[in-house]
This record gives sequence, C-alpha cells and structure tokens, in this order.
Amino acid sequence: MKKVLVIGSGGREHALAWKASLSPDVATVFVAPGNAGTALEEKIANIPVQPSDFEGLLKFAVEERIDLVIVGPEDVLVGGIVDQFSKAGILCFGPTKKAARLEGSKEFSKDFMVRHKIPTARFESFSDLKKARDYLEHQDFPLVIKADGLAAGKGVVICQNMNQAEQCIGEMLSGEVFDGAGEKIVIEEFLQGEEASFICMVNDQDFLVMASSQDHKAAYNGDTGPNTGGMGAYSPAPVIDPRMHEAVIERVVKPAISGLVEDGISYTGFLYAGLMVQDGTPKVLEFNCRMGDPESQVIMMRLKSDLVALCLAALTGRLGETQAEWFNQSALGVVMASQGYPGDYAKGHRIHGLDNAFDKKAKVFHAGTRLVDGQVTASGGRVLCITALANSIVEAKRDAYEAASSIKWKGSWHRDDIGYRAVARKQSIL
Ligand code: AMP
Ligand code: GLY
Repeated sequence: MKKVLVIGSGGREHALAWKASLSPDVATVFVAPGNAGTALEEKIANIPVQPSDFEGLLKFAVEERIDLVIVGPEDVLVGGIVDQFSKAGILCFGPTKKAARLEGSKEFSKDFMVRHKIPTARFESFSDLKKARDYLEHQDFPLVIKADGLAAGKGVVICQNMNQAEQCIGEMLSGEVFDGAGEKIVIEEFLQGEEASFICMVNDQDFLVMASSQDHKAAYNGDTGPNTGGMGAYSPAPVIDPRMHEAVIERVVKPAISGLVEDGISYTGFLYAGLMVQDGTPKVLEFNCRMGDPESQVIMMRLKSDLVALCLAALTGRLGETQAEWFNQSALGVVMASQGYPGDYAKGHRIHGLDNAFDKKAKVFHAGTRLVDGQVTASGGRVLCITALANSIVEAKRDAYEAASSIKWKGSWHRDDIGYRAVARKQSIL
C-alpha cells in the first residue's frame, strides 16, 4: 500500500488529497499543512510542515517512505521543490524550477509562446518606466498590464484609460508592490471572448488531457468587481466543444509540448493553459505550472480514474500509454468566502451547518479553514468550495447552491451565478 504526500492547504489540495485517498492502492495521504477539511477525511492526515520548508518536507518524506508527492501551489514549484525531491530520489509530480518559469515569469512565458507560434495577445515587456510610458502613448484602451513575477493572482490589471495605466506601471515598476514581482512588466492587448481552463498532465512529449473547466475570477455576480483567486468553477466547459478541443490540442498543447522539448526543458506535471476563446480561436492568456483552484475541485469530482496511478504513470514514462476515464456528468463548485475578501477579511468565525451539507448531494472542499478546539473555523479569504456532481449543469448548480445555503458563518458570502454561461447555453438549446 502506498503513501502519498500532498503539499499545500487550499481547496485544490483538499480535492487532490481526497481523490488520491480514494485510490485502492493508497494507505494514507498526508497533507502539508492541509486544512480542517483534510484533517477530517478518512485516510488523510495533516502534518504541521509549511510548503516553503523544503528541508522539513524532505525529511518527512524520507522518514515515512513516501511513494508519491503531489505539489499544489505554484510558488514552491517556482522555488524548485521538485528539484529537491528528485535529487533525493522521491517521485514528485510537478515541474522543475526551470520548467516552472512558464508560470513564474510572464515575460519568459510570452517569449516562449511567440517562439513556438502559440496564439496569444500582442505584448511588449518593460523594466524602464519611461519606455513603458512612451509605449502607452500609442496604445488603445482597454489594455492589460501584468507584473512579470508571481503575485498570487493579483498581478494583472485591466486598465480602461491612460491615467489608470500610468498609475499602474508606476506602482509596479517601483518594485514596492508584489514584493518585487513587478520590477518587470508586460503590457498586452486586451482580448475579448470567453475564458476556459485547459489542463493536461505532461511528461516530456506525452500528455493526457484533463476535463475542461471554467473559472469565475471576478468577485461579484455578473463578473463584476475585483479579480479573485476564483469564486467558482464548473466542468465541462461547453465553450470547449469537440472542434475547439481539437483546435486547442493542435494550436496550443502540441506546440507547447514540442516547444519545451526543443528548448531543452524537461516538463513533468500539470500544465494549465488559461484560454480566451474568441471567434472560434483559442488564445493563451497564461500558462500555469499546476492545477487550478477551484478548477481542481470540479475536475477531481469528474475523474473516474485513479489519480495516483496517473501521476505515477507520468513519473515513470508511461503517460503515453495511459488513458483517463471521466464521469459523463457535470460538476459545479461554489466558493464561499469571508467578509471583505478579496481585500482584508475577517478570520476566526466558527462555521455552522457543515454536517447538514453532507446529505445534500454535494462535497464540501475546504480551503481557508482550521480546527480550533475541534470546531471548524474560517481562517482564510476563500474558505469552502461546495461542489456537486449531477446529470446536468442545471442540476449540479441546484445541488451545490442547496448545500451552500445550509452553511454559514459571520459575514460568509458567495456569488449566486456560478455556471451562468453554461446554464444559458443549455437553456437556449432546450
Ligand atoms: P492571468 O494571470 O494572466 O491569467 O490573468 C488573470 C485574468 O486577467 C485572466 O483570467 C483574465 O480574466 C484577465 N486577463 C489576462 N490577460 C488578459 C488579456 N490579454 N485580455 C483580457 N483579459 C485578460
Ligand atoms: N483558478 C485560476 C487559477 O488557479 O489560476
């Protein structure tokens, strides 16, 4: 029987750990450091080691003889966690430091796309304020300004006018915001269309496509308000119809895979293409070097195959001969957040109604939760993702919202319209 270690503490990591724990070959899944949700699962145990403590994680993995490590968050991948585990001979699913630059540097990522003819928005990168200002003079609005480095989903600003753009580049290039992640910036063309998340498992030239999904990044109903880490998701994403699926494989996935090989970058792990679909053409907004959150929650609900077997197949060069099976149903997840999120938020409130949600055909994935004296309390901005699997997107939405309605804590809130595009499509067909 195998032991698995999942690194991270969000909803994505709860979903990955939960799915790994369902594998018949797995005895225990450890999560470092996990949350209240992972603490309460059968076959899952939290360990009090932070993702940034590579030495502590490695020591634990060696002592426990861990068979597989799955890394959730991007910052530790960009920091080189996989290189460390590989050196110690431990199988660790995720890209190396060099490969994770595809997410770690927007400039690197954009140059990669241009070099390998992967469709993306027009752009220029700058580290000089004056040059960036001069460039702005000749651009149309809206346009998009991005900090080069990792900025926890907050490094992208859509600017409606020159004033906003000037203020934004000034702040970013000063290096004061985002911990220096914005000392270099990318200014790019604003793309209109519908977004989708297209995620594959990759091992060098082999890839296995995960179910398509769509996130809802804006905080409030109708895609209004500030950007967040993601307020809900569903799978499949109807915008990725069979024709679009083929187009993404041919124009994005295959050129990315062969581009990595050509550039001498060995890539193993999840590769996430954030797409904008515009007039039947996919364009890449970004590559991420990991699973999405909350996309993982809906994708893991739909995955019939054994996640651990898939990761091990990739790590041992057998991904090309591996298929994944999916439940032919729809999954939809609604994120419940703390008052104030995505700004400063309240912490420490006890969450009520979690037990009732269990009878309501939904799985409650935890993110920012902690057990305090045996009680589940809210400790983060995004706190729970209430996820349902049903025969249609309409039913999955109904089930997820019904379960969400029985859960509350002081100031808790969620968007009311997760899945609206897919539901509208369904209703226009009926
Ligand atoms: P990124 O981190 O690059 O994916 O950007 C975060 C979000 O900003 C995306 O999910 C989009 O909603 C939006 N975004 C990024 N780039 C563009 C673009 N070129 N045009 C329109 N929206 C964009
Ligand atoms: N849900 C967006 C992301 O994981 O980047």
